[in-house]
Amino acid sequence: MSSIYLASHIQFGVGARLNIGGNFCSLNCKKVMVVTDEGIVKAGILDDIIKSLSDSGITYALFDKVIPDPDVTCVHKARDFYLVENCDGMLAVGGGSSIDTAKGAGLLITNSDPLMSLAGLDKVKNPLPPLVAIPTTCGTGSEVTNVTVITDEQHAKIPFVSSLLTPKVAILDPELLYKLPSHIVAATGIDALTHAVEALTNKNENWYADACAIQAVRMISKNIRPAVLNQDEKALGEMLYASSLAGISFTVARLGLVHAMSHPVSGFAGVPHGLANAILLPYILDFNLVGNPEAHALFAKELGVSDQGSAIQTAKAGVQEVIKMNQELGIPKSFSEIGVNDECMSNMIEDTFKSPNIAINAREVTRKDVEEIYAASFSGKLPLAVTSI
Ligand SMILES: [Fe+2]
Repeated sequence: MSSIYLASHIQFGVGARLNIGGNFCSLNCKKVMVVTDEGIVKAGILDDIIKSLSDSGITYALFDKVIPDPDVTCVHKARDFYLVENCDGMLAVGGGSSIDTAKGAGLLITNSDPLMSLAGLDKVKNPLPPLVAIPTTCGTGSEVTNVTVITDEQHAKIPFVSSLLTPKVAILDPELLYKLPSHIVAATGIDALTHAVEALTNKNENWYADACAIQAVRMISKNIRPAVLNQDEKALGEMLYASSLAGISFTVARLGLVHAMSHPVSGFAGVPHGLANAILLPYILDFNLVGNPEAHALFAKELGVSDQGSAIQTAKAGVQEVIKMNQELGIPKSFSEIGVNDECMSNMIEDTFKSPNIAINAREVTRKDVEEIYAASFSGKLPLAVTSI
């Protein structure tokens, strides 16, 4: 038997954020901790959200100290702030880092165990305080997922997976993306595409995840260029919805080698999550496609690739399409292009194999494979020698 747990109440549409106060009234909250970063505050994104809270009689305390790839210290600071301010609910506004920080703080508020003892699958015992998430990028999916990722003292990104981590309400408001810098739309959009393709092609694939993933790929393929290159508002909204759908797909089916390898690059070299995935994606599709040619061919067709006569050839054409898409969106071809060297390579390889996503990747993976994929993605050499078919 399989089961699917989706707890979020999803509200979407232009202006959806303006009902935030009503949501916290329904959740019986009186004072919420707003979890965000300084950039969101400076951009004025919180102004009408806070007005909605005030109009509904909800008070708030602002925690704006979220850092990219939040670590244990950041999560503890947010927990302490919540307790000192005597809050009874949490509102995360931002990208994956803000939402993941709120989830991590929530874990510590209601569970007395040390944070890292709750890492992994289904270790969380008590529900978080009521959490509402408002994403401001089109990549994380964290507003609907059962996952948070926290960086430990050794720079490793540690996943926590539990249905208790799923926010009570996810609010998808396209207006919040209208002024998002294009390079962030590009990187987070390819992160969402990666969520969808990993859920679609890994060994955990199932009908529910496939339905969400296929629709997400279709929407991203159609909208990512106008969203990035023209800041087209309708396309940006579609990207936000697609990102959430992709988030649901990986909540159901989990991920694969791209995320297993990108987390160490972010942890050790500080490359933002979306960008690390976007750079790695074509290399790993090229490696993975022989593990599940049919699903990779389906992915390719949803990207607009025509049937090439066999699943393998269609899947390979899909890799070329992703390379072309990345180029058009201004995604660098390699980590060396953004000044990242491979000095932490052996640590990265070691951490890759700590990921539970390795076991469900579309293709079996050896240490030598990971070494070769990292070497190629650092130097920008495609196709990979390991997969020349
Ligand atoms: Fe991701």
